[in-house]
Amino acid sequence: MSSDREFVFTANDFAHVQKLIYEHAGISLSEQKNDLVYSRLAKRLRKHKIHRFDTYLQLLDNTDHPEWEEFINALTTNLTSFFRENHHFTRLSRHLKDNYARASTDKPIKIWCAASSTGEEPYSIAMTVASAFGKLNPPVKILATDLDTQVLAKAEKGIYQFDTIDKLSSLQKEHFFLKGNGAQAGQVMIRPELKSLITFNQLNLLSNWPMKGKFDFIFCRNVMIYFDKATQYKLLEDFSKHLNKGGLLFVGHSESFPEASRIFKLDKQTVYVRC
Ligand SMILES: C[S@@+](CC[C@H](N)C(=O)[O-])C[C@H]1O[C@@H](n2cnc3c(N)ncnc32)[C@H](O)[C@@H]1O
Repeated sequence: MSSDREFVFTANDFAHVQKLIYEHAGISLSEQKNDLVYSRLAKRLRKHKIHRFDTYLQLLDNTDHPEWEEFINALTTNLTSFFRENHHFTRLSRHLKDNYARASTDKPIKIWCAASSTGEEPYSIAMTVASAFGKLNPPVKILATDLDTQVLAKAEKGIYQFDTIDKLSSLQKEHFFLKGNGAQAGQVMIRPELKSLITFNQLNLLSNWPMKGKFDFIFCRNVMIYFDKATQYKLLEDFSKHLNKGGLLFVGHSESFPEASRIFKLDKQTVYVRC
């Protein structure tokens, strides 16, 4: 523990945080995350005018305490961007054109974006489907979920700084975004038609999922990396139950699951096909 820290944060406190976030969100925090945990939770201690981590963590003994939401939000890592790992969107587009050209609104294509963070990923999916069908109202329903309520609120707003769409083509910018004026200068907003393709909901991947029907595509990228092997495997089994046969599961660039070969066939580059 470094002595010049503003708050008392012992090895026991860190172990306590590790246990709570693992049990609640499946996130395994390594010892190297000590400083990160300190700096992210220090803001919460300041807010409550508490000087010791053990006192702060006592608030969480009550599982209904509103601080639980803030604790989870503070410890999730939400890095994302539009068309991150672009080859997945190229693959999605090709698969849609080859297999779903006749899809209709009576039986829409169903896509689940299972760790949607601030929305760039589900909006990239929506843009890809809209482009593949050449219209802003393609036959698709996208469910976007995340554990963190703060990022979901930003996602639902669909407002971003202009520089976040730097790498998009002029056509994409024009078709899918509205430019802010006056107080909103420097910002862009997702077009309402595109937004209406997506439903945002909070969902903990570790909880029982309420969805009954199956999906054609699931994106679960750059979150399973924070989970241990047993949790990853359980999730992969659950994803397979929620995917139609031949459906695609997209995972993050550094996530590899050779143990899933019984239920998924690795297509290529982190795209798995439901057997
Ligand atoms: C690094 S971001 C990845 C965002 C996006 N999928 C991408 O690849 O750009 C990880 C997201 O997973 C969410 N997350 C972490 N644990 C979760 C859990 N148990 N259930 C659902 N979402 C979780 C975090 O809140 C965060 O928004």
